[in-house]
Amino acid sequence: MKHRIVVLDDEESLIKWVSYALEQKGYDVFATTEPDEALAYLKNEKVDCVISDMRMPQINGFEFLKSVRTMYPVLPVIFITAYGSMESAIAAMRDGVSDYILKPFGTEELLLRVRANIGKVKKQTGQIIGTSRPMKSVLALVDKVAQTDTTVLLLGESGTGKELIARQIHHSSNRAQHNFVTISCAAVPETLLESELFGYKRGAFTGATTDKQGLFKVADRGTFFLDEIGDAPMTIQMKLLRLLEEKEIVPLGSTRPLHVDVRLIAATNKDLTNEVSAGRFREDLYYRLNVIPLLLPPLRKRSEDIPALAHHFLKAICAHERLGEKKFSKNTLEKLKTYRWPGNVRELKHTVERAAILSSSYYIKPEHLGLEPEILSHGLGHIQDQEIKRVLKECGGNVTRAAEILGVGRATLYRKLKKQKPIKKKPNTKRKQKRSK
Ligand SMILES: Nc1ncnc2c1ncn2[C@@H]1O[C@H](COP(=O)(O)OP(=O)(O)OP(=O)(O)O)[C@@H](O)[C@H]1O
Ligand SMILES: [Mg+2]
Repeated sequence: MKHRIVVLDDEESLIKWVSYALEQKGYDVFATTEPDEALAYLKNEKVDCVISDMRMPQINGFEFLKSVRTMYPVLPVIFITAYGSMESAIAAMRDGVSDYILKPFGTEELLLRVRANIGKVKKQTGQIIGTSRPMKSVLALVDKVAQTDTTVLLLGESGTGKELIARQIHHSSNRAQHNFVTISCAAVPETLLESELFGYKRGAFTGATTDKQGLFKVADRGTFFLDEIGDAPMTIQMKLLRLLEEKEIVPLGSTRPLHVDVRLIAATNKDLTNEVSAGRFREDLYYRLNVIPLLLPPLRKRSEDIPALAHHFLKAICAHERLGEKKFSKNTLEKLKTYRWPGNVRELKHTVERAAILSSSYYIKPEHLGLEPEILSHGLGHIQDQEIKRVLKECGGNVTRAAEILGVGRATLYRKLKKQKPIKKKPNTKRKQKRSK
């Protein structure tokens, strides 16, 4: 059976080559520059994956995503985002986008992301890499809680592995032979979220022409992973509390509660205590959820894990794409270790996959990584103020030139200079003078 993909972008030439590339590989493609057309198509056809630009003249990607999610809460949606805008890619993940592709991208990367996301729906669990101290304690705790039925609250930045850990807990528990079901509260509008989670009776509202089983029932005897629980509306919070306390749900339009036996794993990027004080999150639910909090540390706080993770992703992508054997050069590994990774493990994985695909040589060199230099974390950390002064003097105060010599991004150097008041003025005024010429 052919997988069907919807492609939406305002750039005619982009959708042309993307469609061509996908069709060559046997996908059925519906490509358009019009968001309305894409939505109309989605309404009528069964689609396996959506690829959409994030910035379009008629509508922004997030609005488009919301409309897609209204129809399909869990359909893979991949955003195309401009190169260098990691921050928006991270925000997109939080809003329930399944994945992102950074522009510019090639055929191989496109196909890779499509395959990965269509496959994700069936995905079991991947190997968890990490021997740093924080990861060791996370994994020890995972082993322990897997043997129990307690609720687990996963905390941590985007891309730190919350879903991976949730799957791991499920698969090492005695619920493994039953379903693992997941949905994100941030991605789905309130009314839809309620009917998806709890199900409904025929006639419960206009359009409810048959009974529908809720996802909690689908997860019966298995595990439910509720992502972005910090975004759950009050009505849902109340029903979740009942689920946790009484082990029952009431489908919309029904008066008869149904017994369900699920282990709940919740995750959030938000600080729930804040949400509680702001009155947006029920305190009783918070305590119910927070039985076992599990914090996944950001990648920059466990850089010891980076080489093992990078090698793991490199090996996997080389095998998967039949690229032969590849290695990181020494400089590349060094760069991977010192980068800040705002998108955490997910960003590392993408970066490695991309580099492996882009480099035609045996060694992957730093320039293949395409990382933004200004985010290099240690960037200036280990460079002494005196050295900066010396280099700046040598270049006659030219910050761009000095940044090159110091091997850091210009933005990083500016940030640093801001903190060192005395020498800040000089290079800045020089720059301005230069500009106004
Ligand atoms: N320790 C790890 N070992 C191997 N792969 C990992 C590890 N942590 C994360 N990954 C991989 O990184 C990617 C992102 O992980 P995951 O989706 O679990 O993150 P997340 O915390 O749920 O992110 P978000 O908050 O954005 O949803 C996945 O492809 C996952 O398999
Ligand atoms: Mg996740």
